[in-house]
Amino acid sequence: MNRLLITLLLSIPMFAHAVDLDNGKKQARSCALCHGHYGQGTPGPASPRLAGTPAGYMIKQIEAYIKGERINPRMVVTSSLHSISEEDVDDIAAYYESINLEKINPILNNIPLWPGNVARGEELYNGDCKSCHRKNGMGKSRKGIPALALQYPRYLFRQMKMFQWDKRVHDDDPEDETFDELSDQDIEALLAYISSMAPNNKK
Ligand code: HEC
Ligand code: HEC
Repeated sequence: MNRLLITLLLSIPMFAHAVDLDNGKKQARSCALCHGHYGQGTPGPASPRLAGTPAGYMIKQIEAYIKGERINPRMVVTSSLHSISEEDVDDIAAYYESINLEKINPILNNIPLWPGNVARGEELYNGDCKSCHRKNGMGKSRKGIPALALQYPRYLFRQMKMFQWDKRVHDDDPEDETFDELSDQDIEALLAYISSMAPNNKK
């Protein structure tokens, strides 16, 4: 065997062609600068984790950045997203989805605990978030609902502010009111609870 070439035909209907994980890995080199070698990201607000994220969700986000619906000119320019083909985007997304950080090195999978009122966060989460992001914070990948418990809290904090400021649309609903009434303290509490659901923080 000379070269590892894995071509997968996923059963998910969004891929009209066979996805090529080897091509995805090659193309993803231009993402590693910010998202890390394995797509593990970093705890700062500007480097979300991609490894293990549902491909359909990532493809939708990349399109939103290209159209300017989510704002990130540095990413669009650095990775030449305007000239990258749809097939390459599919391959990159399938490649990142396939990465299991826990297998590569469990330390890469760690999410820092966010300080805050966990009990208040749990109450808010169970009332307003659980129905979609699930009781364990792992989302519903087939429905394009991302796992919050596997994402860095500082990045999530910023996203919730973006939803509040109408700079990003939550749940495909421009009228969404999920975050309207939340104070910064409520958001901190939510993140304290959400980060406590990360596998490395579960006792
Ligand atoms: C210059 C740095 C940079 C590069 C290069 C970059 N990104 Fe990003 N990416 C970011 C930042 C910063 C964010 C979060 C921005 C925000 O707040 O919306 C992000 C967000 C994302 C998200 C959304 C994550 C989520 O949970 O919603 C996806 C998907 C993504 N990037 C994919 C990619 C892919 C694929 C590539 C390579 C083709 C890439 N990025 C290259 C900086 C970068
Ligand atoms: C009715 C379903 C639904 C409910 C309820 C819901 N969400 Fe979401 N959430 C979604 C969907 C769908 C997305 C993906 C949005 C997209 O496609 O851009 C999302 C995305 C997010 C993101 C962005 C994640 C990322 O990686 O960028 C955050 C943060 C988030 N939700 C937090 C929450 C919190 C906190 C609550 C409760 C206060 C909540 N959501 C309630 C459906 C829901």
